[in-house]
Amino acid sequence: MKPENLYKIPKHVAIIMDGNGRWAKKRGLPRVFGHKEGAKAAEKAINFASDIGIEYLTLFAFSTENWARPEEEVNFIFKLLVEYINDKLSSLLERNINLRFLGRKDSLPENILLTIEHAEKETSKCTGLNLIVALNYSGRAEIVDAVKKIVNKGILDISEENFRNFLYFPDVPDPDLLIRTSGEIRISNFLLWQLAYTELYFTEVLWPDFDEREFLKALYAFQSRERRFGRIKL
Ligand code: FPP
Repeated sequence: MKPENLYKIPKHVAIIMDGNGRWAKKRGLPRVFGHKEGAKAAEKAINFASDIGIEYLTLFAFSTENWARPEEEVNFIFKLLVEYINDKLSSLLERNINLRFLGRKDSLPENILLTIEHAEKETSKCTGLNLIVALNYSGRAEIVDAVKKIVNKGILDISEENFRNFLYFPDVPDPDLLIRTSGEIRISNFLLWQLAYTELYFTEVLWPDFDEREFLKALYAFQSRERRFGRIKL
């Protein structure tokens, strides 16, 4: 099901879902309401990506820096995630969506770990959209973890190509398109190695308002870009 005039679909789209708190504040609501609406927007984006045939969708749900938020907010975000996984697991399987979590898993609370590992296992044979949720993730931590693996193995012959094998998901191609909502123009420690040649798209729209129409706008912007990967156009 391809929307009209969309002829170039990125293989991998990564999204920094930003602006939940501001969305709630604008309405005089507590921040957690923004996250609740944000989870609905995430579901819309996941279904849309799966419908139009995007192969990989990576969503930044929780960074290692997000632990510094009030405990109540942190607990709420994790509760939302667990609810989402438990409520939508059958829908993910029906849509043939393969779900994986990207980040440092060892420091996650036990119940979260059990839930995400169960969902990963259940969807591991799915061959449709690869949905990657970045949780307790930081790009610098991922690079440091890769270096630690290399040092521990005593590997001296390291190149750009084989360095990739030590990242969390070596099989996942680099994102073609990064979307960030809410008007912030930053990478915020997301996929630092992988974003080297990614097309960047920033929109003022706050994450809870990001719907299929906004996703399409980003895809049209992407298809108008000329990607040269450091080369010149002949
Ligand atoms: C950024 O908004 C959002 C987050 C840190 C949390 C995102 C998490 C979800 C939407 C949970 C659901 C995810 C899935 C995959 C179902 P912000 O709080 O930084 O907003 P602000 O910058 O306006 O304060």
